[in-house]
Amino acid sequence: MSHSPHSQPPVRPVPAGAVRIACTINGQAREFVAAPMRRLIDVLRDDLGLVGTKEGCGEGECGACSILLDGQPVNSCLIPAIQVQGANLTTIEGLASRDTFNKTVLHPVQQAFLEHGGAQCGICTPGMIVTAAWMVQTGQPAADVPKVLAGNLCRCTGYAHIVTSVQAAVEAGQAAGLTERPAGEA
Ligand code: FES
Ligand code: FES
Repeated sequence: MSHSPHSQPPVRPVPAGAVRIACTINGQAREFVAAPMRRLIDVLRDDLGLVGTKEGCGEGECGACSILLDGQPVNSCLIPAIQVQGANLTTIEGLASRDTFNKTVLHPVQQAFLEHGGAQCGICTPGMIVTAAWMVQTGQPAADVPKVLAGNLCRCTGYAHIVTSVQAAVEAGQAAGLTERPAGEA
């Protein structure tokens, strides 16, 4: 079946007990209606169309679904929708920016993954990049990359290229002054 680019998303029935939830996602105020215990990853992907966040295990083990919730990396497959009421979320879609010519400027971590071959199939990549962006933002030392990424699993790369990418990104990001909070205050 073909889809028109202007076709509307299907109207989903509102489940009994659904509540209105307001939060900030990637710097924009968003509101949605969901059952309180609906998984955040399903809200992001299926309700809000933010499909950059990937699902791997669905059980909190692989980190593929990592996002930042009030500045901290979390597994969105484990977060109930009601928990983000009033919260500030960052997904992979929120990391790149626009320059004065409205051209996309990749986050230093995204750029480093491109330059160092940190992605293969890409399922783990958004979660890796979001976690690495948190490292840059909070000033975590590059030497801690393997330890911090221990909660993000990859079935493709053998990790060497990922670790190299993230270490390069952490060093570049810190050199570029992207650190907002010193390590220890995360
Ligand atoms: S999909 Fe959430 S931790 Fe694996
Ligand atoms: S690049 Fe395929 S799972 Fe990591």
